[in-house]
Amino acid sequence: MKSVDVLIGLQWGDEGKGKIVDFLAPEYDIIARFQGGPNAGHTLEFNGEKHIMHSIPSGIFHPAKINIIGNGVVFDPVIFNKEISELISCGLNPSENLYIYKRTHFILPVHRLLDAALEKAKGTSKIGSTLKGIGPAYTDKYARHGLRIGDIDNYDFIDKYNNIKKLQLKNFHSLNFDENDFLIDNLPFLEYEKLWLETIELIKHFKRIDGEIYINEQIKNGKTILAEGAQGTLLDVDFGSYPYVTSSNTVASAACTGLGISPSHIRKIFGVFKAYCTRVGSGPFPTEQDNETGEMLRTKGNEYGSTTGRPRRCGWLDLPALQYATTINAVDALFMMKVDALDNLEQIPVCSAYAINDEIIEYLPFNLENLELKPVYTNFKGWNNFNNQYHLPEEFVNYIKYIEKKTNTPISLVSMGADRSKTIVLYDFMK
Ligand code: IMO
Ligand code: MG
Repeated sequence: MKSVDVLIGLQWGDEGKGKIVDFLAPEYDIIARFQGGPNAGHTLEFNGEKHIMHSIPSGIFHPAKINIIGNGVVFDPVIFNKEISELISCGLNPSENLYIYKRTHFILPVHRLLDAALEKAKGTSKIGSTLKGIGPAYTDKYARHGLRIGDIDNYDFIDKYNNIKKLQLKNFHSLNFDENDFLIDNLPFLEYEKLWLETIELIKHFKRIDGEIYINEQIKNGKTILAEGAQGTLLDVDFGSYPYVTSSNTVASAACTGLGISPSHIRKIFGVFKAYCTRVGSGPFPTEQDNETGEMLRTKGNEYGSTTGRPRRCGWLDLPALQYATTINAVDALFMMKVDALDNLEQIPVCSAYAINDEIIEYLPFNLENLELKPVYTNFKGWNNFNNQYHLPEEFVNYIKYIEKKTNTPISLVSMGADRSKTIVLYDFMK
């Protein structure tokens, strides 16, 4: 039986994946992260409190559910430990229901240094990384000398650690920086490294599992799994706006390699998108409103990064990009987020195509940085605020019908606010 559903972001991240995973968690036995790392910032809100998860799955507030960090994730013990402390202060006991794959790779302190140095060396063409060491950690994984969670139980852990550190410090110095040029989370390198190594001891309180065996066993026993994506399709290392992307595959198919499950176990693909667009960091963004309109969207949507606090770049919904994302992920159900941020506008433009010189195209071209590329907008009449699923304003229905037509995918859920309760299910997408 197919029992794994995959939930992914369809834009440049920050679509609201955390809220939806928390909302859907009661329907599943296991919630698992399969890629990315603490560059993610998944926000959950309920009972008047807000929680931000970076490396821990967003199902963690449901103590009866198993939460798993998969092999496709890169893992920072210091950030993880901070998250754990916050969960404990909320009265949870995450060491009971949170497991980590032994095959998950570590983000080392030197990866944080390298991330900062590589970004600085890029100057004006910097990626706008969250500087969490994601790129350098994946680089070491694929260069086949990464350090993994399972290694902490081996006698030669510290030797392996020192070998990678030595090698990567050499790379770091070759960029003409020294350790004192950067602070990591406000600490000098050596102090941060001390903290990092101490934290490794705390990780030993958590179950480190042969995850690929465990998860397949659970599937065999009829358990259901929700795979929680991080970032978004337009940040995918292969299909995003390269090189302004993250260093992992963020598309739905990554759930298979990031957890060790076969594609034949995948049941549904859920795609999360915002009713408009945002991007944090550099790179092309055709519908960006670098003006008062963008400022208005930023204020109405409170668009500030949950991982870095950076103001997000804002713009209108980009349908050729959304259509691209729904196609390569074969999305079964769309979840539209932050509808309330568009409440009470007179007019809502949507990018329905691009113009390149005199040619109109409706697909996402290879080169989004083409200066001649201009969005073509279709204007929709705005709606007054609403929170009643039985009386959707006609203007809003027109807006979603158009998106459904263009993406050939049903909008099955809309979110009207950050709180769990502000969620309207339009179709039963679980069937
Ligand atoms: P969630 O899961 C939004 C962006 C960064 C930068 C680029 C590369 O919360 O949606 P990296 O740190 O991966 O080297 O940064 O990707 N980025 C995100 N933007 N949401 C995220 O995660 C992101 N994770 C990375 O801003 O442009
Ligand atoms: Mg984010």
